[in-house]
Amino acid sequence: MSEYQIISEGETVLRDGSIKLHGPDGFEGMRRAGRLAAEILDAMVPLVQPGVTTAELDDVVRQMTLDGGGVPATLGYRGYAHSCCISINHVVCHGIPSDKALKDGDIVNIDVTPLLDGWHGDSSRMYLVGDVPLKARRLVDVTYECLMLGIEQARPGNRLGDIGAAIQAHAEKYRYGIVREFCGHGLGRLFHDAPEVVHAAKAGTGPELRPGMFFTIEPMINLGKPWCKMLSDGWTAVTRDKSLSAQFEHSIGITEDGHEIFTKSPKGLDQPPYMA
Ligand code: MF3
Ligand code: CO
Ligand code: CO
Repeated sequence: MSEYQIISEGETVLRDGSIKLHGPDGFEGMRRAGRLAAEILDAMVPLVQPGVTTAELDDVVRQMTLDGGGVPATLGYRGYAHSCCISINHVVCHGIPSDKALKDGDIVNIDVTPLLDGWHGDSSRMYLVGDVPLKARRLVDVTYECLMLGIEQARPGNRLGDIGAAIQAHAEKYRYGIVREFCGHGLGRLFHDAPEVVHAAKAGTGPELRPGMFFTIEPMINLGKPWCKMLSDGWTAVTRDKSLSAQFEHSIGITEDGHEIFTKSPKGLDQPPYMA
């Protein structure tokens, strides 16, 4: 069997581990799901304030997803019971919404995945709560730069490893730790599909990028060491050394001459400080 599989949309969803090459219907579906994800993340901007609980933010994510005609793909996913993940400070990813309130100085990732008309729009951004120390703001800025430098490498003819190599080179300039335990992923009709998109790699390695491939890039970058551990709830991943961690995520598609970002903010709010 080939490493790639050309998909004609509407066919049975294949779970055979091959990398799917989608057509125009797939691009249209991902554009709509990605736009809803971006609108939800835009709506979080004024709500992320000291005192708000992460459960309150989760309620807004769920309501906006439903109002937009979708369902949160995380709801019921492998037993996960919430509409998004909210990861504060040293939480690397998959933070569970709760009655914990945000406080001044926190850095927070909100990760949403609306499933709209069969397509998954997966995206996350960092938010700054009140006054955030310079060291933490720099981590957030560099992590966003890592995502965008990775995306720059996404074009036909390049290899998947070129993306991780660009991210790694940038993060290492600052001596930050690049998380290895979690990676980006193919998506589309499936939430998590082939290929695995690692955020530290050798240039020129991995599968060749081809038009029609859909995947996320979602680097998690730590102020300290790269190591993570899982809390006893079975979801929350934290840095072992308790250092701060940041993450941004976009869903993209490879086009004939480059890429399309499905989850770009319609308001230009892709990155803090969101002074728009
Ligand atoms: N949205 C996450 C990702 O980027 C996955 C969250 S799965 C959950 O792939 F169950 F933790 F919500
Ligand atoms: Co993802
Ligand atoms: Co996500």
